[in-house]
Amino acid sequence: MMDRVAIVTGASRGIGRATAIRLARDFGVVALVARTQETLAGTADAVRAAGAVPLIFARDLREPGAAAAIVAATRDSFGRIDALACIAGAVPQVDMFALTDEQWDDGFALKFHSARRLTIAAWDALKSSRGSVAITSGTSAYTPKASLAAVGTINAAILALAKAFADRGVKDGVQVNTVLPGSVMTDRRRTMLQGYADTHGLPLDAAIERFAAEVGIARYGQPEDIANAFAFLFTPDSHWITGTTLRVDGGETKLL
Ligand SMILES: NC(=O)c1ccc[n+]([C@@H]2O[C@H](COP(=O)([O-])OP(=O)(O)OC[C@H]3O[C@@H](n4cnc5c(N)ncnc54)[C@H](OP(=O)(O)O)[C@@H]3O)[C@@H](O)[C@H]2O)c1
Repeated sequence: MMDRVAIVTGASRGIGRATAIRLARDFGVVALVARTQETLAGTADAVRAAGAVPLIFARDLREPGAAAAIVAATRDSFGRIDALACIAGAVPQVDMFALTDEQWDDGFALKFHSARRLTIAAWDALKSSRGSVAITSGTSAYTPKASLAAVGTINAAILALAKAFADRGVKDGVQVNTVLPGSVMTDRRRTMLQGYADTHGLPLDAAIERFAAEVGIARYGQPEDIANAFAFLFTPDSHWITGTTLRVDGGETKLL
């Protein structure tokens, strides 16, 4: 197990950082991708302390060439790839009547196309290792809202993308799933909650409490709650679970 290699995007903070650190217990090497070298270095220290070798890629994943370069460098250094966790995402949290074409494109470029390009670039290596891909979507894929239109739309598109990869993966021996976080307390969630506070004329603390009550959760998720779901999907014991969505939302989604 400890010769296994994982790639984690969005690894500089939030869910991606927690996932990289969690995977360091199960993998020998964890490649860390985000734009910011300094924060990635912080994650790398934590990964090392947890027992794995970190490999840093400070890249903007919206660049079309980034995915292939990251995969090639990882294979050159370690010869294999066993798991790919696509977590980077910064879809604009803007009302659908205000969202510009550029903002739509930017949201797709990072969250959708980087996951698509990385999965394709890593596919041969994943075939060889009988590896696993998990792509982050979000519960808004099932509950799109006008105020966050691009978020729900891109998350829904990711479910279809992952399902199509999983279809090919049945033949090729590659497991592909999506992870759907609910309301997880990260920088991104704090930005969203600040917008909620402004809209309702509330102080941030009161908004945090009211939003949780409104969506029906006992507490916000921690990044580690989602990291554990990724770790599960990357254990050999879960290999027959493929083409599915793993919702991790503290009961927020009220439909079946
Ligand atoms: N938090 C939630 O409640 C929640 C709910 C549902 C879904 N999600 C999804 O979960 C994922 C992670 O969310 P989070 O809350 O952990 O977000 P976050 O704290 O804002 O972290 C986002 C990560 O993506 C990286 N990133 C942003 N732009 C990038 C770019 N152009 N190229 C490469 N990396 C980039 C960031 O690093 P740099 O800035 O250093 O590049 C950071 O590591 C996202 O896809 C989000 O949509 C989150």
